[in-house]
Amino acid sequence: MPTGDGKIRLGASYYPEQSERERWALDAQLMADAGLSLVRMGEFAWAELEPEAGRFDFAWLDEAIDLFAGHGLEVVLGTPTAAPPLWLVRQHPDIVPIATDRHRVGFGNRRHYCPNAPAFLAATDRIVSALGGKFGSDPRVSAWQIDNELGGRCYCDLCRAAFQRWLEDKYGTIELLNESWGTAFWSQRYDDWEHVGLPAPDPIREGGFSRRAPNPGLALDFRRFVSESYLRYLRRQVQLLRSLVRPAQQITHNLMGFNFAEIDYAALSAEFDFVSWDNYPSLDPNRTWTLPALNADAMRGLKSGPVWVMEQQVGPLGWEYVRTARRGQMRLHAYQAVGHGAEALLFFRWRTARSGAEQHWFGILNADGAVGRRYQELRHLSAELAGLEVLEHAEPEADVAVVYDYDSRFALQIQPTHAALGHEETVHRWYAALRRLGLGVDAVPLGSDLSPYRIVVAPSMPVVDHAVAAHLATYVESGGTLVVGPRAGVRDRSGAVPERSPPAWLDQLLGIEVTDIASSDETAEVHGLISGAFTGWFEELATVDAVALVRYVDGDFSGGPAISERQCGLGTAVYVGGVGDDALLESLFRALCGRVGLTLFDLPHDIELIPLRCRGERLFFVLNHSDREQRIGLSDGSWRDLIGGGIGERFAIPKFDVVLLRSEEHDAQASMSEQDVIEAAL
Ligand code: GAL
Repeated sequence: MPTGDGKIRLGASYYPEQSERERWALDAQLMADAGLSLVRMGEFAWAELEPEAGRFDFAWLDEAIDLFAGHGLEVVLGTPTAAPPLWLVRQHPDIVPIATDRHRVGFGNRRHYCPNAPAFLAATDRIVSALGGKFGSDPRVSAWQIDNELGGRCYCDLCRAAFQRWLEDKYGTIELLNESWGTAFWSQRYDDWEHVGLPAPDPIREGGFSRRAPNPGLALDFRRFVSESYLRYLRRQVQLLRSLVRPAQQITHNLMGFNFAEIDYAALSAEFDFVSWDNYPSLDPNRTWTLPALNADAMRGLKSGPVWVMEQQVGPLGWEYVRTARRGQMRLHAYQAVGHGAEALLFFRWRTARSGAEQHWFGILNADGAVGRRYQELRHLSAELAGLEVLEHAEPEADVAVVYDYDSRFALQIQPTHAALGHEETVHRWYAALRRLGLGVDAVPLGSDLSPYRIVVAPSMPVVDHAVAAHLATYVESGGTLVVGPRAGVRDRSGAVPERSPPAWLDQLLGIEVTDIASSDETAEVHGLISGAFTGWFEELATVDAVALVRYVDGDFSGGPAISERQCGLGTAVYVGGVGDDALLESLFRALCGRVGLTLFDLPHDIELIPLRCRGERLFFVLNHSDREQRIGLSDGSWRDLIGGGIGERFAIPKFDVVLLRSEEHDAQASMSEQDVIEAAL
């Protein structure tokens, strides 16, 4: 179970129902030999567990659990609701969702359920109660995973009716709904809750004209409703399980990382005991190291306490097409996840599937069950991690936070405004620029406690209200440095344009007013405290109570402020009035971090530095994400690599390799001094 004791544990997903029973014992033995101590099972096995309505067959699962527990493996049991069986679909065809193209999804895949269908909720209660009753006090089972990767928008009539009830709860009167959504526009006024429909799935563009642009208020509320539908569905399962299982069995759900923007993960994670998520670095089309890092930091930032990676990539992957990691990256990505705070990594999956849709998702073993390279590499990793006791007391350290917010994410899905303003991409770019300076960065929901951070960046915040502005003002007045990205405060919580100039509600804190905007694919040079360029999106700023840090050199706003700054209380509020390129962001952050005295590092772009705090001293993971050896030098005395054993001031890190550095003077000094610099000596 998640212990919070910091011991790094490894495991794998295992599907007893997909393999021959005679094979289980050998697999359990091989897992134990490789140092695995966790095994996840059951999350898609509904048809095997309840072959017909109300008739349960748990004997095979019991037997499998027994066998693996007998080899020292703790079991994480999944509720199997992501894969409703055929008998349920045939009895209740209306549990199957209507997809965004308005067609009912067919049977034969997974996630083919509507989270608002009463028959599905009843069937969920039945299987979850039966499983909880059977295994809830079982010492062999240490944790539960609810469902699997919740998500998917449903447009069925049941959802429509539930949405209408949700709106009634929210607004109370239909007049208030009309006012909030501005339904005077295009004669969209509603007289009754029952008249409200679901928004058109996605705008259709014909000849540059949007044929289906939904009312933004309706679309925003629908996004929230879908998110809350999953939250209610998860809560239902959690509450049922809690009433049946012993407290030591903790409950989680496997989240999908930062880029999945359909469910408010901040709200969802409040419902379960500990965060877990699925990590597939090779899915990033750009193969950056910063995206898996952001995923890890954002998932850790959802909730305090232990974090598990419930699915960690172990081999080639893909649906129709296969992507492979490079040799050495399996281990490197595992260290990256551990460096960002994971207490457990369960590799997906144990054995490559011989049949079914996931033949391209390679497991630790090949499809023929043979032990090969990936197994040997895992065994080696497991032995290495077992020797790193220091990690038991280490945790990621961050002086900087990047904040994000689900209403802003939803609003930008509805009105992306400009390709360069995408929420996920923008947060990722700002985060990456900070990380390339060697900083530890937390990624946290906007409402989080910001007091631990010297610098907070809010790259993409179109939706703002009084409460957000007050929260950020308190942070700045108490001495924080806040950096706000373009297009802040352009919508209220109803999706309407506020009755004050942008950045609405933040105007006083930032001391500016946005007086004009320009959207074009051109680039404008900017110059001042730093120099660089904006591309795609530009804002004209009136510095009412702020100073210009940087000005436009060309373009329509030439000579005017491009980045502003206002001193406020003990802190500083900075506004960036356009989309800066990577170099600009890096220079800006370098300048601001320099001002507040944060230690920065001069790193090649494919070297990742993860600062850790361990009993008052600092450790550094240094990961070489490139396919060539890199040399790093430390300026502050002698260091020891706790993984490879090397000692010195300079380290040559082979391609896709990693070092974990501790100062040899660690007993004497509690932390590194400001002058410490890791520099690339290529
Ligand atoms: C995950 C999912 C797993 C498996 C894996 C590889 O997203 O949770 O069940 O499908 O991808 O396909």
